Amino acid sequence: MSSTLSTLTERIRDRRARIGIIGLGYVGLPLAVEFARAGFDVTGFDVDESKPRQINKGTSYIPDVPDAELAAVVKSGHLKATTDMSQLASMDVVDICVPTPLRKTKDPDLSYVVKAVDAAAATLRAGQLVILESTTYPGTTDEVVQPRLESTGLKADVDFFLAFSPERVDPGNALHTTRSIPKVVGGLGPSSTSVAALLYESVVSSVVPVSSTRVAEMVKLLENTFRAVNIGLVNEIALMCRKMDLNVWEVIDAAKTKPFGFMPFYPGPGLGGHCIPIDPFYLSWKARQTGFECRFIELAGQVNGSMPEYVVQRVADALNSVRKPVNGSKVHLFGVAYKRDVNDVRESPALDVLELLTKRGAIVTFTDPHIDHFRHGGEVLHSVPFDQAIKSGYDCAVVTTDHTSFDYAKIAAMPLVVDTRNSLKAFERPSIFSL
Ligand SMILES: NC(=O)c1ccc[n+]([C@@H]2O[C@H](COP(=O)([O-])OP(=O)(O)OC[C@H]3O[C@@H](n4cnc5c(N)ncnc54)[C@H](O)[C@@H]3O)[C@@H](O)[C@H]2O)c1
Repeated sequence: MSSTLSTLTERIRDRRARIGIIGLGYVGLPLAVEFARAGFDVTGFDVDESKPRQINKGTSYIPDVPDAELAAVVKSGHLKATTDMSQLASMDVVDICVPTPLRKTKDPDLSYVVKAVDAAAATLRAGQLVILESTTYPGTTDEVVQPRLESTGLKADVDFFLAFSPERVDPGNALHTTRSIPKVVGGLGPSSTSVAALLYESVVSSVVPVSSTRVAEMVKLLENTFRAVNIGLVNEIALMCRKMDLNVWEVIDAAKTKPFGFMPFYPGPGLGGHCIPIDPFYLSWKARQTGFECRFIELAGQVNGSMPEYVVQRVADALNSVRKPVNGSKVHLFGVAYKRDVNDVRESPALDVLELLTKRGAIVTFTDPHIDHFRHGGEVLHSVPFDQAIKSGYDCAVVTTDHTSFDYAKIAAMPLVVDTRNSLKAFERPSIFSL
């Protein structure tokens, strides 16, 4: 074992390794807190200065990280945060958790990763471990990250260590957390894999080493493509069931009693969040470079992308049943977050539904206990308090997100409702239109 590797290994084993996390969002902050709770000294880095400010005050902005947990590690001195990238120089580990969105053309936008890697390169020194956690296509670590870090003259897997480890956190899921979800780790070489695996073993229940960074990158894209394609399939089955006058939810509930070979996925208003609508296109983009067309990904994208339009059609059907047009009707959305119990509107299908209804002349408002307001076009829309919304006399309500805190009996009693989430299954009324 080289001396740089043995020094880093020892520092990780006795928790003296200083850990820097670049990007303190839904992925980076929970991870920073886990490392700090395990006894490491952690420094979080973010370009958005409001995040370090809130962290240093012990205030959490991520629902899965309770204030008390964050405040405890800040108070104990194990976690601090900064915008000053020069402090990366004193880190033993640099863990990159920045966004990987798509460009308008649906091509990968690696600009955040490149900026973060360049910041790490500016202070890179022998003995450091750099890990990329942002979801990306196979080849990013060795084609994009490695050359930028090696431009310093230091060699990966010899002078410094480099690995990819996909983040699998599921915001809002209290059952599976950063600590309990197994962590896949692929290094650039055996030294990088073993030292990165050792690091994660100190904070997660199990580590799954794989043979390369590319395998680790592909694992994450397989997982998320699997979800996107199966959601696409079940959305298509939902459209089919409507034509056949079958209740798709009843069909799924019965199918899932099969103890093997079936896994339930549920239809809805479309895909949302920073992962499922985006990640598969990282894969299809990379596959295209090799002359391979990902037919399932493209088809699932088409079906899932058509769901908001279908929801609008169901609103039109509902309004039609009471002889009202969409144009001029007051339509209220319950939930704009992309999924249950999160405060994230990124890629939320509810925003597409809102946009499409507005284009057709509807007057659209919303209630979301997790989102006080958001910007739509040039306008800021504010959440209407739940009890006020129930009494407001809208022409049609739509359950777009099935937050657990909604009182569904009250929503079901509204004059006309479109339920995109099967949240009103206990209430069978002619005024309730399901997907
Ligand atoms: N949100 C999820 O559920 C989830 C789950 C698994 C994986 N991921 C992946 O993890 C990555 C991060 O996602 P997220 O949801 O945490 O994003 P996020 O937007 O919540 O957080 C990213 C943070 O990085 C900061 N940032 C951007 N550029 C920076 C830079 N150059 N230097 C320092 N900070 C910078 C941003 O200000 C932001 O605070 C993405 O690749 C995503 O696909 C996300």
